[in-house]
Amino acid sequence: MIRRAARRVIRTLRGKNLPHTFDCEAEGYDRNRARFGLYTPEVLYRALLSLEPTLGPRRRVLDAGAGTGLFIPTLRSFFDQVVALDVAENMLRRAPEVRLSGPDVVPVVGDFFRHPFKPGVFDCIFCSDFLHHTGRADAFVDRACELLGDRGTIVVVEYEPGRVRTRILKLIEEVFLEDLHLISAAELGSRLAARGFSWRSRPVSRFEYLLWAQRNVSTRGED
Ligand SMILES: C[S@@+](CC[C@H](N)C(=O)[O-])C[C@H]1O[C@@H](n2cnc3c(N)ncnc32)[C@H](O)[C@@H]1O
Repeated sequence: MIRRAARRVIRTLRGKNLPHTFDCEAEGYDRNRARFGLYTPEVLYRALLSLEPTLGPRRRVLDAGAGTGLFIPTLRSFFDQVVALDVAENMLRRAPEVRLSGPDVVPVVGDFFRHPFKPGVFDCIFCSDFLHHTGRADAFVDRACELLGDRGTIVVVEYEPGRVRTRILKLIEEVFLEDLHLISAAELGSRLAARGFSWRSRPVSRFEYLLWAQRNVSTRGED
């Protein structure tokens, strides 16, 4: 309550009272991200390269909460098409043109939980530093299951809650942005395992882990 009020005051003082938190943060987002030492596109590239044999079909990936599109060039190297979805229009607008241009990238302004995509249209759901802003891990798993085709994969990069560094970063973000809802790789993995996914995870920075999960069996019936 106090934190929320403090954030409102900070935003008003900064002249940034826009509807979505990240609409206000778009301008300095890439710079701040680098300043905190979060993982980079090169790290994602190496991780996906080593997962390549287990990525399954690679036609279309959804980058959920794509932000300024930092990871689109990397995703493009592995998938035919990248659908870059974000609820904050300003974030997508700030994406340098090179990240969004080309027929293989489709920017979409919308809410991951509500946007009317057809069921089963994606081969992979990728999200980076997104889930902890939603606080909806169960709904995320439900929605990912709905949007994924057979043998679909999920790649999630998230803050690992157990580390001291992560707690400090969480505190800073909560003062300036919004409450964060961290979930460990083990917790997320067990929710996915309960829905028939195999999963594994590895650290990708001092704060973050990357979790890969793949559906074991066909849950959408035969074509
Ligand atoms: C911390 S940023 C991460 C951006 C990018 N994935 C990255 O790693 O650089 C989180 C993004 O998720 C977006 N977001 C939060 N909730 C969302 C939702 N329900 N649907 C779509 N995007 C959402 C925010 O607007 C923001 O751009």
